Amino acid sequence: MRLILLGPPGAGKGTQAKLLIDKYHIPQVSTGDILRQAIKDQTAIGLEAKNYMDAGNLVPDDLVIDLIRERVKEEDCKDGFILDGFPRTRVQAEKLSEMLQSMGVDLDAVIEIAVDENALIDRLTGRRTCSECGTMFHQSARPPKEKGVCDGCRGELIQREDDKRETIVNRLEIYKKETQPLIEFYKNQGRLKTALGEGNVEQVFSRVCALLP
Ligand code: AP5
Repeated sequence: MRLILLGPPGAGKGTQAKLLIDKYHIPQVSTGDILRQAIKDQTAIGLEAKNYMDAGNLVPDDLVIDLIRERVKEEDCKDGFILDGFPRTRVQAEKLSEMLQSMGVDLDAVIEIAVDENALIDRLTGRRTCSECGTMFHQSARPPKEKGVCDGCRGELIQREDDKRETIVNRLEIYKKETQPLIEFYKNQGRLKTALGEGNVEQVFSRVCALLP
C-alpha cells in the first residue's frame, strides 16, 4: 500500500504512521525525520536544511524531492510506504505523481488528518521527542513514565527546536499557504479521505484504518 498522510504540524501524522507500520508492515518515509537525521549527522543536506527547519520554513523543493526519489527506490519500499510530511507543496505533489508513474505504481490512499488549530498548538508545545530513538511523548496526553526519560530506550527527551511557540505560528501559516491547497489537489483526483484527528491516539487510528483499502 502506498499512502500519504496529510495534515498540519501536530496533527498526529508521525504518531499514526508508527501505528500503521506495525499493522501494514511498510515503512514510514518522513521527510522531517530524514532531514533531522541529516542535521544530526552533519551531512551537506543537513547543513543546508537546518536554518530553514529551525525557523519553521520549508526546505527547498529540489532538496526534498531528491531525498524522496532515492528513498522510495530502496528495497524496503517495494511493497509500499507511508509518506509523512511529503508532499508539502504543489511542485512536490506533481513530482511525486511523475515519480510513481515512472515506477509503474500508484497511490492507494491520501488521508488528511484534521485537527483544530488550538489543539495543534497544545500538541506541539507539549511534545517531547526521544533524542536517541525518536519516540514521541506529550507532556500531558502521552507523558513518559519518568519525566524527561524515554520509556523504551531511556534516552533523553528533548523539545524540538521548531516546537517553540513563535516558530509554531510560522509553521501553521506556511501550512495554510503551501500545503493546505494539496487537499483540493487530491480531492480533485478523487483520492482524498479525511479522518478527524481529535480524541485519543487509538480513536484516531481506528478512523484512519477505516478509510484504508
Ligand atoms: P515535520 O517533521 O514533517 O513536521 P510537521 O509536518 O510540522 O509535523 P510534526 O512532526 O510537527 O507533527 P505530526 O503531524 O507528525 O504530529 P505528531 O504525531 O508528532 O517537518 C519539520 C520541518 O522539516 C518542516 O517545518 C520543514 O522545515 C522541513 N520539511 C519536512 N518535510 C518537508 C517537505 N516535504 N518540504 C519542505 N520542507 C520539509 O504529534 C504531535 C504531538 O501530539 C506529539 O506530542 C504526540 O504525542 C501528540 N499527539 C498525537 N496524536 C495525538 C492525539 N490523538 N491526542 C493527543 N495528542 C496527540
